Amino acid sequence: MILTLLVMSCLIEPIIALAYKSTKKITRHMNRSIKGSEPDTEIRILACVHSMRNVMGTISVLHLSNGTNDSPLSVFAIHLIELSKRSTTTMLIVHDDKNNDEGRYNNQSKNETANIIRAFENLEKTNNAVAVQTMSVISPYATMHVDICSLAEDKSVNLIILPFHKEVKGDGRMGNGNSNFSNVNMNVLTNAPCSVAMIVDRGIGSKMFDSQEKFPGNFARQIAMLFIGGPDDREALAYAWRMASHPDVCLTVARFVPGEQATELSHDVSVNRERRIDDEHIEDFKEKLMSNIGINYTEMVVHNGEEIIAAIRSLGEDYFDLYIIGRRHGEISPVTEGLSDWGSCPELGAIGDTLVSSNFALHSSVLVVQHYVSTDAIHEMADGSSTCSLGVGTKHDVQRYDF
Ligand SMILES: *[C@@H]1O[C@H](CO)[C@@H](O)[C@H](O)[C@H]1NC(C)=O
Ligand SMILES: *[C@@H]1O[C@H](CO)[C@@H](O)[C@H](O)[C@H]1NC(C)=O
Ligand SMILES: *[C@@H]1O[C@H](CO)[C@@H](O)[C@H](O)[C@H]1NC(C)=O
Ligand SMILES: *[C@@H]1O[C@H](CO)[C@@H](O)[C@H](O)[C@H]1NC(C)=O
Ligand SMILES: *[C@@H]1O[C@H](CO)[C@@H](O)[C@H](O)[C@H]1NC(C)=O
Ligand SMILES: *[C@@H]1O[C@H](CO)[C@@H](O)[C@H](O)[C@H]1NC(C)=O
Repeated sequence: MILTLLVMSCLIEPIIALAYKSTKKITRHMNRSIKGSEPDTEIRILACVHSMRNVMGTISVLHLSNGTNDSPLSVFAIHLIELSKRSTTTMLIVHDDKNNDEGRYNNQSKNETANIIRAFENLEKTNNAVAVQTMSVISPYATMHVDICSLAEDKSVNLIILPFHKEVKGDGRMGNGNSNFSNVNMNVLTNAPCSVAMIVDRGIGSKMFDSQEKFPGNFARQIAMLFIGGPDDREALAYAWRMASHPDVCLTVARFVPGEQATELSHDVSVNRERRIDDEHIEDFKEKLMSNIGINYTEMVVHNGEEIIAAIRSLGEDYFDLYIIGRRHGEISPVTEGLSDWGSCPELGAIGDTLVSSNFALHSSVLVVQHYVSTDAIHEMADGSSTCSLGVGTKHDVQRYDF
């Protein structure tokens, strides 16, 4: 495979971020989501993989993302490679078929990279409405998120797709996972300048392909979108909605409405405002629903976490190929209280954690969606430049949702 080398920065210092410093206005952030994208425009996605094992799940989700001539997908597929101890140079390598590769990294990852490039090229070949640019990012795990977020900023992507750090084992349970990948994911979730979706692949990848090279058969895929409320759920709904237009997809949307007990807990102004926006989105969705026979919509009243689990279960046990959910429901949903004690992966959120540790959805993959978070601090200090260029490990206390 043929590569161009672009040496972006030296030492551990993530100077790459400076190279990407953006001069564009903050308002541009409004569009950095699936929901905020204009109708009939391109959707830009940065898809990250650590190895070939992440590739099939990622490509399946991209395939379901319904690239069309009116709204094509522009995919930046990134192979994340750890910078070896001996090297000191963080690199971004853009792969194309015109240039030669001098190979600054070891053979094993080069081979892996070649396989990854081939898989993504295949996605492009089999779908006219998908354009793929493959790249490698070589940096230490501690600062990898800086490079990912800077690229996302530079390419004005709507969405970053990340692989969950644990992989499914033979018995359907999740393995222990790689803590380095987990750290990268958490850092991207905190710093992303756009929406983020994390894939827990429990079969959606392998179900899609007969073999590595052969591309999708046409069969129905059952997708469930679980709506509790808040910006992340609205973004997840927008993504699910897009997928529902795909001819292979049957979508079930379930909205969990808090019962009286639960609502009494909160009379906060911002909570009510959130709920109003949720209602508008759902109404909008239901209106368009009438004309789409491929979608089922259901509302269920729930009072607490236990009832949510029972309700999810009642939709179907091991029935869905994919659940699409929001990551955070914040203070707006007392009904998820108690759920967060379940698992140990904050990156999945309460519902995601529950699904992944449940025994009724062992073969269901999960897509956890986070709407981008804008931080006042970043807005003031960075004046519209990359959130990541502020440096590694910067903690922002004030988190504010934007619409
Ligand atoms: C972002 O969206 C707004 C309206 O929602 C639109 O006017 C603007 O042109 C969009 N900007 C970009 C860069 O797509
Ligand atoms: C990498 O592979 C080439 C042949 O493709 C071989 O000549 C070279 O010695 C290998 N380098 C390392 C570091 O293994
Ligand atoms: C490179 O990948 C191919 C799969 O495409 C595999 O068969 C081969 O053994 C790999 N080679 C090395 C050196 O890892
Ligand atoms: C994480 O990265 C560190 C530093 O490169 C390495 O020593 C460690 O083995 C890695 N952990 C895993 C689980 O791969
Ligand atoms: C998805 O694809 C179908 C045709 O395959 C198209 O009619 C529909 O508009 C697309 N939806 C979106 C949101 O792009
Ligand atoms: C909607 O639900 C009905 C009854 O559960 C089911 O038969 C049908 O296949 C569902 N449709 C979709 C698109 O999921």
